Amino acid sequence: MAYDCISLTRHEMIGIVTLQRPQALNALNHQMIEELEQVFMELETDEKVKAVIITGEKHFAAGADINDMLDFNPEQARAFSFRHCFARIEAFPKPVLAAISGFALGGGLELALVCDWRIADNTARLGLPEINLGIFPGAGGTLRLPRLIGAARAKEMIFSGKPINAQQALEYGLINQLADDALAEAIQTAEMLASKPPVALKLAKQCINQAFDMDGVKAIEFESVAWASCFATRDQREGMKAFIEKRKPEFTGT
Ligand code: CAA
Repeated sequence: MAYDCISLTRHEMIGIVTLQRPQALNALNHQMIEELEQVFMELETDEKVKAVIITGEKHFAAGADINDMLDFNPEQARAFSFRHCFARIEAFPKPVLAAISGFALGGGLELALVCDWRIADNTARLGLPEINLGIFPGAGGTLRLPRLIGAARAKEMIFSGKPINAQQALEYGLINQLADDALAEAIQTAEMLASKPPVALKLAKQCINQAFDMDGVKAIEFESVAWASCFATRDQREGMKAFIEKRKPEFTGT
């Protein structure tokens, strides 16, 4: 399928989704959000793709498109919401990485927050500046940022609107890695993840994501059922046999 605001390339088993509105620092407009949702639907059924990277041309994304929002009334603002698209990416059954260079602001940072793994380089500036526009983060930021870095630091970022650099983001636990070249590092990490057993990865991701929304007893029960279902896969047998036979496992995704 052809896209206007994003591009999809494949690097062996990795799908690379690039945000491409560089003239607006990749500000997320309605069309880009629709295309993002569409591309993740396409990648979900692509069996050759084992992990996905989201990145941006020059910058990651400087937030939701402010031109689109200026004249919104509350109903229009709610309809503009990114929540369906971001929920799809968060629940995507394969690992999703964000490779962040330049600005990752507002809805751009919130997009990075729904990814499983964030890698930034020294050009990155990460922040939630919505407060300076008379609003606050409305694409999951008030939930996902405090979960990741704690309420105190999240409030600092959301109330002040001040961006942080990649070194600070690493110290906060907002990114997993700081690299010289965010995309090159993300490709290497994605290749490592693509070599893991996909069913176990998918189930581990589901358990971690769903545990946030469950009470502890239910979360442990959910984990136990998901964990047991790994034993219905060939990859479980292969992983354990390879350990016993002192060789590298060859996972097939079955
Ligand atoms: N929406 C629309 N256009 C944007 C944009 C955005 N979020 N961010 C940047 N642009 C546009 C600028 O208007 C400018 O366009 P023109 O050349 O046509 O004037 C172009 O991108 C380049 O931007 P600047 O000239 O401003 O570049 P700069 O280097 O001087 O500054 C910046 C960069 C600090 C990121 C600045 O552009 C900026 O502050 N952008 C807005 C960031 C922001 O507030 N993001 C939050 C948006 S609200 C949101 O995301 C809501 C939500 O929670 C879902």
